[in-house]
Amino acid sequence: PVLVFDFGSQYVQLLARRAREAGTLAMIVRHDLPVERVRELNPIGLILSGGPASVYDPSAPRCDPRIFDLGVPILGVCYGMQLLCDALGTPGGVRSAETREYGRTHLHLLESAANDPLFTGVPPESIVWMSHGDQVRELPNGFRALARSGDCPLAAVVKTDRPIYGLQFHPEVVHTEYGQTILSNFLKRVCHAPGDWNMGTFLERAVERIRCQVGEEGRVVCGLSGGVDSAVAAALLARAIGDRVVCVLVDNGLLRAGERDAVVAAFRDHFAVELRVIDAADRFLERLQGVTDPQEKRIRIGHLFIELFRNEAAAIPHARFLAQGTLYPDVIESGGGADGPAATIKHHHNVGGLPAELGLELIEPLRDLFKDEVRKLGIELGLPAWFVGRHPFPGPGLAVRCLGPVEPRRLEILRRADAIFLEELRAAGLYDRTGQAFAVLLPVKSVGVMGDGRTYDETIVLRSVDTDDFMTADWSRLPHDLLAKVSTRIVNEVPGVNRVAYDITSKPPGTIEWE
Ligand code: XMP
Repeated sequence: PVLVFDFGSQYVQLLARRAREAGTLAMIVRHDLPVERVRELNPIGLILSGGPASVYDPSAPRCDPRIFDLGVPILGVCYGMQLLCDALGTPGGVRSAETREYGRTHLHLLESAANDPLFTGVPPESIVWMSHGDQVRELPNGFRALARSGDCPLAAVVKTDRPIYGLQFHPEVVHTEYGQTILSNFLKRVCHAPGDWNMGTFLERAVERIRCQVGEEGRVVCGLSGGVDSAVAAALLARAIGDRVVCVLVDNGLLRAGERDAVVAAFRDHFAVELRVIDAADRFLERLQGVTDPQEKRIRIGHLFIELFRNEAAAIPHARFLAQGTLYPDVIESGGGADGPAATIKHHHNVGGLPAELGLELIEPLRDLFKDEVRKLGIELGLPAWFVGRHPFPGPGLAVRCLGPVEPRRLEILRRADAIFLEELRAAGLYDRTGQAFAVLLPVKSVGVMGDGRTYDETIVLRSVDTDDFMTADWSRLPHDLLAKVSTRIVNEVPGVNRVAYDITSKPPGTIEWE
């Protein structure tokens, strides 16, 4: 594999993702992984990520300096570049830049880059993405400059005697025009990666790992949320240990229209594992009574999940493990990355807490994957395309889309509006082209006129976003005709709603969900 050393960059997982897109397995590791461990993993290349620290700060994160002598190609990005220039070139050569550079800028390749494998296929001028306050100010000893940008004379450097590269810009970000070319060049032309890694290989290894962890006897409880991730996790477990996995679907009364039936049907048709459905809608509603604070909703829902799981798991003989469909973005956004530098933005109740309380060991086979990779894995496991293509759905379900109090009447309004929106989106052929689309019910009433009468009714917001990774997202430019049709249908068909709005906020600054 290629190892990506995590120095706390918000883009670290993108580096891994781009490498995988180029057909090379990339694994994210702690920034200070000792060289002995690195050697055991037998990497063909190392990537040092960016990060918020300054290398001249005594407490800045550093790597084991012995990794520079492994003879393995290294690519340092942003902070990673500064670190290796400081360590291998001229100590003290990194300082705060005169002009901080954020955003798009022009990269100019120098003549020395003409024959360098890293820049094969990259034109002399292109757009790159910068985000830094520090920079390497003087050419470090033993390095050659390969490129400059407007405010950064050393935008790319290479060590003269070894394949050790530094890039001040971020090749992993889509705004860098030739970023994927540069990363592919590093992997294929510098590290000589075969480029044949795919979901098939991931699957084999994942199955092996699960068998190892679970052993010959252990049984696994797998919580199904109704979403894609937990279903793929269940399918993977079924492949690895067959009927020793017991799936539990908690119907919390917060699922979308028809969702419970769809999951039950998909499971009946595709797996030979046991599926237990717990009817708990009333209990969840009772717990949520009068609660309007979003985090409080999540916490209460999470706690009740734990209670129900504890009871269910206790009734399954030899159940020693709990499987969850946690994805990489969940881990990052819950502040649980390798070094935990990312801020906690929302408490995703499906990360942490649960297994400790249950006394079960946790299995998270999808922990390193991105959403689109999980979908590919699902297909590889034989799940139908329509099933794995479904938009993600948050664990706390409609509770976090029903702003204000969560009550049966309001949930029913939301469910019906949501179903209409999704039905029309599919009919327009746009469902698969949007990342996530849903309806939100606001705790706001407004005045309208229907027939000859004044109305004072509920407000539905339609939310649809385009996104690759759910870390950032842009609002979908849906056709006005489609929005008009959805609006008319909702107001006509869902009693109690007299106004429909469309959300035109991107993430950031908004989040995808409203709570
Ligand atoms: P946000 O709203 O944070 O959402 O931009 C990013 C992605 O995460 C999903 N999401 C959740 N998933 N439990 C989950 O399992 C949660 O509490 C939760 N909150 C948000 C959201 O639907 C989107 O796909």
